Parts: sequence; C-alpha cells; structure tokens
Amino acid sequence: MIPGIDPSRVPRHIALVMDGNGRWAQQRGLKRTEGHAAGEEALFDTVEGGLELGLKWMTVYAFSTENWRRPLDEVRFLMRFNESLLLRRRDDLNERGVRVRFIGRRGGRVPKRVVRHIEDTEALTAKNRRMTLTFAFNYGGRAELTDAVRSIAREVAAGRMRADSIDEKTLSRHLYAPDMPDPDLMVRTSGEFRVSNYLLWESAYSEFVFTDVLWPDFRAEHLYNAVREFQRRDRRFGGLEPGSESA
Ligand code: IPE
Ligand code: IPE
Ligand code: MG
Repeated sequence: MIPGIDPSRVPRHIALVMDGNGRWAQQRGLKRTEGHAAGEEALFDTVEGGLELGLKWMTVYAFSTENWRRPLDEVRFLMRFNESLLLRRRDDLNERGVRVRFIGRRGGRVPKRVVRHIEDTEALTAKNRRMTLTFAFNYGGRAELTDAVRSIAREVAAGRMRADSIDEKTLSRHLYAPDMPDPDLMVRTSGEFRVSNYLLWESAYSEFVFTDVLWPDFRAEHLYNAVREFQRRDRRFGGLEPGSESA
C-alpha cells in the first residue's frame, strides 16, 4: 500500500521522458555526461517504485532519433553508457521478473555490438511478466510511424492486404511493440512542456504530468506523486463523464 494511491486504479502503462541530465550536471559544475551517469540511480529507483505499485508497463525515453545532433563525444558516451547499464543491470532486472524490451531503429548509427546486447537482454528476460520495461532507444515517433507505413505498403504491394481495409488497428499492429498498451500516463521531468517525438501515436489519450525535478533527482516518490495526480484526473476519451449526459 502506498499512501494516497488507490491500488485498483494504478495506470497500466507509464511512459517517462527522462530529461534534465545536462542541466543537473551544469548546476554542479560537472560535465553533461556526469548528469547522464547520475540518471542511472534515478531510473532504478523509479523502476523499484513501479514494481512496488504493481505497474505492468513502464517505458523510458533513453535516446531519440534527434539526439544524434548532439556533439559526437556525448553521443558516444550515451551509446556506451546505455550498453554498460544494460550489462550491469540485466541479471538484477531478470531476477526481479522484469521483461526488458527496446523500441526504436536498430540499424543506422547504433553500433552493432550495442544491438547484440539489446537482443541478448531481450532474450534473457523474455519470459518475465511482472513488469515490462521498454527502452525507447534511437526512437522517434515519426520514424516509428514511417516504418509502420513502409511495412503496410509492402504488404499491399505484395497483394496481402487491400488499401481500403487499412484502419487504425492495422497501424497499431505495425508499430515497434504491437502488444504494448497505450500509455495512460506520460511524465516529463525538467520543466519542459514538449512531447519531443515520443510515442506520438500511442499518447493520443495519455494524461500528461510535468515536473520541474531534473531527471537525476527523480525518485520513486516522484513517480507516486505523478500517479496521485493521475488519479485526480477525469479521463473522458472524447465522451462525457458518467452522470453528466443531461445537457
Ligand atoms: C536527457 O537529458 C537525456 C537525453 C536526452 C539522452 P538531457 O541531456 O536532455 O539534459 P538537458 O535537457 O540538456 O538538461
Ligand atoms: C527527449 O529529450 C529525449 C530523451 C529524453 C531521450 P531532449 O532533451 O532530447 O528533448 P528536447 O531537445 O529538449 O526537445
Ligand atoms: Mg533535454
């Protein structure tokens, strides 16, 4: 039991934009990369909090398709850092019943060795069901939709599908993780009010919670606060709240 949280209304899926590492480091006179390194403890405390909540799906934005625009040193650091984090933490995550998955483009500039470690980790944890922790890595919402359209177009060209039969479910089925439920709650740290190309299709009806906390300072208690805020919201999905139909 977590005070102030109704366990029967915990979101099924929480997606987080882990933002503010650079500013956290800057405030301390450190290098930006030291901010990324400090984000690791935040991530694992948040995962712990998710497990405590009984959360089934957590997705974290680790590297966007636009992050290649950063200085080469930082990009290189982020590739190596994400790889080493995976290698250091995967056995622990596995023992906790966490299934680790990745969404995003696996080719392009992502080093082959990193892709191999991603695939190994996915295989190692594939049978776990307590929680699915998805890393959005070399991920962009527009890239994901573009890739979905390409794969649908191939099916149409091969005569396996009629263009007129394409509907929203077709698109959902062609996303990187077709079995992943849409996020109920999206959390972004560091006081930025942007989507930054994250889960564009999937977030159509997500509730957004923004906090000024910089990612390296984020902890399970901040996740709980976001869930408390979520539980105060009315989700209407374009309809009306029950009991307000008489206008
Ligand atoms: C988020 O922190 C981590 C990544 C984008 C990889 P930033 O690096 O964006 O930190 P700020 O926004 O510059 O403070
Ligand atoms: C979004 O943060 C990407 C990740 C957290 C990995 P950014 O810091 O890259 O987003 P912008 O550039 O501020 O929109
Ligand atoms: Mg940022």
